[in-house]
Amino acid sequence: MKDLALPGIDDYAAAHSWAESDTCRALREETHRTMQFPQMVVGSLEGAFLKMMVRLVNATRILEIGMFTGYSALCFAEALPEDGRITTCEIDEKPAVLARKYFAKSPHGGKIEIKMGSALDTLRPLTGPFDLIFIDADKVNYVNYYRRALELVSASGAILIDNVLWSGDVLKQPPPDQSTAAIQELNRVVAADSSVDAVLVTIRDGVLVVKPKSVKCEA
Ligand SMILES: C[S@@+](CC[C@H](N)C(=O)[O-])C[C@H]1O[C@@H](n2cnc3c(N)ncnc32)[C@H](O)[C@@H]1O
Repeated sequence: MKDLALPGIDDYAAAHSWAESDTCRALREETHRTMQFPQMVVGSLEGAFLKMMVRLVNATRILEIGMFTGYSALCFAEALPEDGRITTCEIDEKPAVLARKYFAKSPHGGKIEIKMGSALDTLRPLTGPFDLIFIDADKVNYVNYYRRALELVSASGAILIDNVLWSGDVLKQPPPDQSTAAIQELNRVVAADSSVDAVLVTIRDGVLVVKPKSVKCEA
């Protein structure tokens, strides 16, 4: 993943934001030592942004699609109230082993429920509403995840979608690969969706923040 900000800017922003917990720091460091693609972790600055979103929408129920080693799930859990809960989806057992290890160490780990398997299968029987839904799994399914998230999000909640700048590759035409094409399609779909308001925040690799416009049935 390319750095899209000026050198040093993200570190400066992180140093002036909600501090990373010791458990999150240790998890991020072990992920970097032991996993093949550690850059998939959202990191300290985006982690602070996610925690702030929990507070801004007063979330008590969160759904995450794409857990990896559990860094973002733990950020969410740390910001949730005691009775808050997060359900997180993951298909790969290897990062889940590390996630479980750190959830067990954290006083907030009990708020996290892991659902192993293909996220589309996991999402099908879930019932909402969720106050926050974070989409951060396979990019080719982003539009599918977005459509299901619209059904599951609460009227006062929000959907957050990660990596929507894709290291700047969203500017390329034609798209160089399937993932880029899928992210470009997702960004088009959201921009054309009159049922939501959205802002593409240029933090790290881009986070699309999507909010349903009107009151909807929460069943
Ligand atoms: C970018 S990483 C998530 C990073 C995590 N949110 C964090 O910041 O710590 C994406 C994860 O989605 C998982 N994934 C990919 N395709 C999936 C699928 N179809 N169902 C569930 N998980 C999937 C991958 O195994 C990977 O661990």
